[in-house]
Amino acid sequence: MNRLAGRFQGAKTLAMADGITRNLTFRTPQATADFAARLAPALCPGDTLLLEGPIGAGKTHFSRALIQARLRAANMMEDVPSPTFTLVQTYDDGKTEIWHSDLYRLTHPDEIEELGLTHAFAEAICLVEWPDRLADLTPENAALLTFLPGAEDDERRLSITYTDAKWSAKIDTASEAPDAG
Ligand SMILES: Nc1ncnc2c1ncn2[C@@H]1O[C@H](COP(=O)(O)OP(=O)(O)OP(=O)(O)O)[C@@H](O)[C@H]1O
Ligand SMILES: [Mg+2]
Repeated sequence: MNRLAGRFQGAKTLAMADGITRNLTFRTPQATADFAARLAPALCPGDTLLLEGPIGAGKTHFSRALIQARLRAANMMEDVPSPTFTLVQTYDDGKTEIWHSDLYRLTHPDEIEELGLTHAFAEAICLVEWPDRLADLTPENAALLTFLPGAEDDERRLSITYTDAKWSAKIDTASEAPDAG
């Protein structure tokens, strides 16, 4: 067994000291997708969203809606499969690359560099599921999105935490619609 495997077990919550936190509730999958679609146009290269939360919380659902919104705005349409087994799926909307990764099956931290992710954090829009695997390669200017089950089957709670002030305007714009709760 890999001697580092122990640090990859379980879903640790990433600590973000002194961050600003926004809490939202989505009562349906569509409400989550609508929020992702509103956030999509506000993102630019160098923006990273760290998507944490248990299996089935909605990280891929959110990512798919965000990526498809950007592709749709560029008159491109593509399937957005879960990167569960490929670790990374990349897209290009004509303005920027979008990297969607799921690090759940990462076998060694060296893979993060090998995949090109650290470079992508600076050059692309990055959506990272299971970001606890990044450990000290976590970009400091990223926003942390924590998805949790809500009171009903189709309800999800989302808390967004960030320290980089650039996120305030982006999150505000995306949160303005009434269905964002
Ligand atoms: N309000 C909601 N927001 C998002 N997804 C929801 C909501 N309500 C129900 N769902 C459902 O929850 C499931 C979320 O699955 P998804 O693949 O996005 O989870 P995940 O967080 O990516 O899990 P994994 O850790 O396995 O990658 C989907 O089937 C989606 O339809
Ligand atoms: Mg997923």
